[in-house]
Amino acid sequence: MPAKLRTIAALFMATTFACSAEMLGADSVAERWYTPDDVANGKALFLSHCASCHGSSAEGTTAWRTTDANGNYPPPPLNGSAHGWHHALSSLEQTITIGGAQYGGVMPGFGETLDEDEVRTTIAYFQSFWSNEIYARWQKVNNQ
Ligand code: HEC
Repeated sequence: MPAKLRTIAALFMATTFACSAEMLGADSVAERWYTPDDVANGKALFLSHCASCHGSSAEGTTAWRTTDANGNYPPPPLNGSAHGWHHALSSLEQTITIGGAQYGGVMPGFGETLDEDEVRTTIAYFQSFWSNEIYARWQKVNNQ
């Protein structure tokens, strides 16, 4: 290979390597607060208490931005594609415990059905669908 081409090839390799190293770095920033056990426990609870409205993979409803005939919002996705990451852990816990009435919503509260740890594991479950990018954004909200 001519020297010039070799230099170009080396530069190309260096750039590619730098980019993937950067991406790996971004991934490792987002260390999660929950364990794989939390996700597994949360999945079981989510499937029995939440999936009927939010979907079994927390995908929600497609028209979640549009109110229904009664002026209520349908269950939003909790998989990171909607607003879930705008709320700190404490506020997510509160919504699940008390329900949506506090915001004029219709989601039932689960304070009578699930204890604090159980509520947290349901959050772990739907957060397990969040990309590292969304999780990192949420961490900023959560740390405020
Ligand atoms: C009967 C349907 C229904 C069930 C069951 C239900 N939800 Fe909801 N959920 C909703 C609706 C509708 C909303 C939108 C706000 C409102 O109307 O209260 C919502 C909103 C939320 C939000 C706020 C999301 C955001 O983007 O702000 C979270 C978090 C949530 N639900 C978690 C859960 C979890 C966890 C469970 C199970 C323990 C659950 N929900 C069970 C209907 C439901």
